[in-house]
Amino acid sequence: MNKANMLYACGKSKSMYYGENQNEIVMHFLDSVSSYTQNKNARILGTGIVRCEVSSVLFDLLNKNGIPTHYKKNIGEGKMLVEKLEMIKLEVIPRNYAAGSIVRNFPVQYGQKFEPPLLKLDLKYNNDPMLNDDYIVALGIASNKELKVIKDLAHELNSFLTLFLKQRDIQLVDFKFEVGRRQDGTIVIGDEISPDGMRMWDVHTLESLDKDVFRFDKGDLVEAYKEVARRILL
Ligand code: ATP
Ligand code: TYD
Repeated sequence: MNKANMLYACGKSKSMYYGENQNEIVMHFLDSVSSYTQNKNARILGTGIVRCEVSSVLFDLLNKNGIPTHYKKNIGEGKMLVEKLEMIKLEVIPRNYAAGSIVRNFPVQYGQKFEPPLLKLDLKYNNDPMLNDDYIVALGIASNKELKVIKDLAHELNSFLTLFLKQRDIQLVDFKFEVGRRQDGTIVIGDEISPDGMRMWDVHTLESLDKDVFRFDKGDLVEAYKEVARRILL
């Protein structure tokens, strides 16, 4: 069988195939949106391509600015070529302003600024429970040394994206990203960085430009994603 057609994995919102060799994966972004907090799932036409285009531009920019990612190139039709990683079972979530679960679960004010930004590390398992450093090391998810690299990477990525988006009139509230190990053990950013995993507000109107549009039926999600893409792809 041709390696390029062999399915590597199929998640909730992407299909992944081997590329030319064992080290390369073609990620195909599907038109699927899920709100893991509100038990809502849907296929929304056009979201796959937008997620892929935005991720490609951001990953390319990160690579060029010395923030290492798995991205190789965009090959069109909602597909990108990436380096295969050994994924670390974490959802890494930097927060700049209070919104979502932190407001529900802790005594903080919606919209409150976190200075310095907060970092939340959740386990990719069941209901994604929140971890701390001891849990991460004890469960063998990452070593202490790796944890330091992941946290530094998270702050560096957050600063970079915050500034980049601010220049486009977007306030980055919080976002989720994933990391994995290259063959030599180096930790780099994997998966996707797109409106699908970000909470963003327009700097002037504070209107949502993200999945909260879908979660709370506030409007047209594809239009919100396209507005973000328009500003990012400027
Ligand atoms: P979730 O929305 O919770 O991430 P999922 O894991 O099903 O759900 P998808 O985005 O559909 O999400 O699937 C993509 C899968 O591919 C994820 O498990 C992700 O960790 C993994 N992945 C991302 N980048 C790479 C990579 N470079 N090498 C190997 N696996 C990767
Ligand atoms: P989180 O704190 O888990 O939930 P809430 O949305 O209730 O605050 O997530 C914060 C950010 O991370 C938010 O921008 C959405 C993003 N995220 C995802 O996109 N997918 C995920 O699986 C998780 C856990 C977070």
